[in-house]
Amino acid sequence: MKRLNTQLQEDGCPLELILLIRTLLAACKEISFRVSQGALAGVLGSTLSENVQGERQKKLDVISNQIIKDILSESGYVKAISSEEEDDVIACHPEGKYLVSFDPLDGSSNSDINSLIGTIFSIMHAPQWLEGDDPKAFLQPGTQQVAAGYVLYGPSTMLVMSTGNGTHMYTLDKTHGGFLVTRENVKVPEQTQEFAINMSNQRHWQGPMQAYVNDLLAGSDGPRGKNYNMRWVAAMVGDIHRMLCRGGIFAYPFDYRDPGKAGKLRLMYEANPMAFLMEQAGGKASTGEHDILDIMPEDIHQRVPVIMGSAGEVNACLEYYKES
Ligand code: F6P
Ligand code: MN
Repeated sequence: MKRLNTQLQEDGCPLELILLIRTLLAACKEISFRVSQGALAGVLGSTLSENVQGERQKKLDVISNQIIKDILSESGYVKAISSEEEDDVIACHPEGKYLVSFDPLDGSSNSDINSLIGTIFSIMHAPQWLEGDDPKAFLQPGTQQVAAGYVLYGPSTMLVMSTGNGTHMYTLDKTHGGFLVTRENVKVPEQTQEFAINMSNQRHWQGPMQAYVNDLLAGSDGPRGKNYNMRWVAAMVGDIHRMLCRGGIFAYPFDYRDPGKAGKLRLMYEANPMAFLMEQAGGKASTGEHDILDIMPEDIHQRVPVIMGSAGEVNACLEYYKES
């Protein structure tokens, strides 16, 4: 089986980026080990602190954030990092060529029930004319990502990543600690009969999403003319992984519960890297109004509505937004 290095070289990835990715993955391997220790290592449950988003942090959120922060800031390849679990950008090495944004442990509430969780990351070039800790450096649209991916801590530990030359899946071989290519050039099926959305929020959604999901639920008797199945892992990393493996549509749409928040998911740590993987695999990612990757971020912690997955199904959903 092909090794990570070989795949990255084939994809034309510059050496310094390869070294950065390998450094980041060393942190993910440590997280994978800590996660697998679970209750034995006393890492489950919550802390008393909240993150900048006002969410109660899990112990594993804090541990994972610290592991990634330490390794990246010492690496020399990174000018600054921004994390879902940090209020502000953290300056690293003044000569570092790259910026890394990450969600250290997506779906972390699943950790208490031994269910899917993962690390999501996005890598961009660091503009050399800005100071390391200037958050403006990070305000680049998702099209500017030079690499994005996630490490899924499931029954096996998997890396799914793109450096702009297709999306590939790798599996961690724990006998020697290397990631091996187990699925090259993933192609998300154009059509699907599977959707993922938190249905309990239905009454808060905007009209187009309500109408779209009602038509999915109507099944073969409704306007879509086929029966749909629903799945919800409650960790974006798990739901998007399923979609990359076998298609589907995932949505965390705008809702009216808190008009100050455009959605639940974060543009820089969740939506952009997943949209990059999805588009590199032939899928589509939108807010309902714009392609996610075209959004010019205004804030590192910005939230966006997310609709992504099989291109045919995402387009069908977007018709409801156009009509409204
Ligand atoms: O990081 C936010 C997140 O945990 C996503 O991973 C997941 O898709 C979503 O929130 C789950 O939201 P809910 O609590 O509404 O099921
Ligand atoms: Mn998350």
